Amino acid sequence: MSEPTTTPTTTQTGTAVASDAHSLTIGADGATVLHDRYLVEKLAQFNRERIPERIVHAKGGGAFGRFEVTADVSAYTRAAVFQPGSSVETLLRFSSVAGEQGSPDTWRDVRGFSVKFYTTEGNYDIVGNNTPVFFIRDAIKFPDFIHSQKRLPGSGLRDADMQWDFWTLSPESAHQVTYLMGDRGLPKSWREMHGFGSHTYQWINAEGEKFWVKYHFRSQQGDLHLDAESAEAIAGADADYYRRDLHEAIEAGNHPKWDLHVQVMPYDDAKTYRFNPFDLTKVWPHADYPLIPVGTLTLDRNPQNFFAEIEQAAFSPANTVPGIAISPDKMLMARVFSYPDAQRYRVGTNYNQIPVNAPHAASVANYSQDGAQRHAFNAPTTPVYAPNSFGGPVASAEAAAEGGWESDGELVRAAYTLRSDDSDFGQPGTLYREVYSPEAKLRLQATLAGQAASITIDEIRERFFQYWTNVDADLGAVLRAAHATAVAAADGAAA
Ligand code: HEM
Repeated sequence: MSEPTTTPTTTQTGTAVASDAHSLTIGADGATVLHDRYLVEKLAQFNRERIPERIVHAKGGGAFGRFEVTADVSAYTRAAVFQPGSSVETLLRFSSVAGEQGSPDTWRDVRGFSVKFYTTEGNYDIVGNNTPVFFIRDAIKFPDFIHSQKRLPGSGLRDADMQWDFWTLSPESAHQVTYLMGDRGLPKSWREMHGFGSHTYQWINAEGEKFWVKYHFRSQQGDLHLDAESAEAIAGADADYYRRDLHEAIEAGNHPKWDLHVQVMPYDDAKTYRFNPFDLTKVWPHADYPLIPVGTLTLDRNPQNFFAEIEQAAFSPANTVPGIAISPDKMLMARVFSYPDAQRYRVGTNYNQIPVNAPHAASVANYSQDGAQRHAFNAPTTPVYAPNSFGGPVASAEAAAEGGWESDGELVRAAYTLRSDDSDFGQPGTLYREVYSPEAKLRLQATLAGQAASITIDEIRERFFQYWTNVDADLGAVLRAAHATAVAAADGAAA
């Protein structure tokens, strides 16, 4: 408990107020008057406490820390954040994807892993997940995909039929769904999971040489999982289980750490690699592109105010810095638009002036001005237009020439051009057969058997069996047999 305070309570404009217990009324038992400005202000402010929750990844939590470079990757990027000796302040937000703000942390889902690096060259964000791939490869499907995972318009309920209808009609989802229905769908905690940038990004070195990279944050705490029964029990007992775990660990001085590695692909390899290296549904085998260490991220500081610093945090794949750029991944190019657009709506036009979003180690200078809630501005002597003759900020051609790739062709609406090893089911099959342990395989089978039982439309269930048969013929057969046995048992019980 803190000591009794003598600080007077005030209105928002700093005037001392008389009471937080009694409204201004005409006599002790009479009507409340409208000119009780403090009562009106207090109620009005309260009514405006909520902002729209994120359209996806609404439930989450996060903490601050530092990223320290431990290796030399200057041959691949000239970004200051990744140069030897660099140590930068960071913010990491974890999240679930589909559930709303109050949803239980341990519902099966992919988990978000968003990192903001406050670098000397401006803020750099990696907005990734705890899986290295995604459900779709073209952004135009994203709203449909998310609708299918959220709630039915009439009942407001989530619905296995629409989830599996979308997935089985979108075979490119198989790899990510194999992760989601496996152990990665139920992390033991946010601390005990790996993070991935998932997309392919571009790095550019001091000589202007370009590379393609994928980010891997390997948890020093391990990549651990809950079993399905525990996850379900925890969901009922403590909806904020992961948020609490992270907060308490950091308060106790138990600071979680992740080692950042990258896979680096020489620029020209992308043209001839056996599958499209920008396809977000695929991983690059480590045998082809091994992990190269970069540095370590440590979380050591809880937010002082959850709303101001976590709820209002705005991460975006558009936030790149010199030496780092995006790639011709159709998902990533659209995300560059989508996030700032969402944040202008969700947080407000000047969301980047809020302390958690403003650069901490670089300054801002441009000709944008005004807009709701603006409070930072240029010196009055700074001109308000470019070009000018009065010493305003000047754009640098060097920054503009940063990332990029050759591109030509007719305007089309088409899938990526297929390459020799492009297949929707190849990598999920390998994940199931060669990466999952025998126990992990059994857990996946049990989870999928439960999913089959929750599908109510025969045609969708048939497609479900075909989908998993395409991933692995034996897995498909196991699921069909398990379902037949369950149906026979239910029929027997009903007879
Ligand atoms: C959040 C759109 C794909 C990871 C969001 C938000 C939007 C969005 C609008 C809310 C942003 C906010 O209000 O601050 C999209 C679109 C996608 C896409 C249109 C596909 C074209 C992905 C992928 C990943 C991802 C592929 C991971 C690799 C996240 C994460 C958040 C998020 C982690 C939460 C950010 C935070 O912690 O504040 N997404 N997303 N999204 N998305 Fe995506």
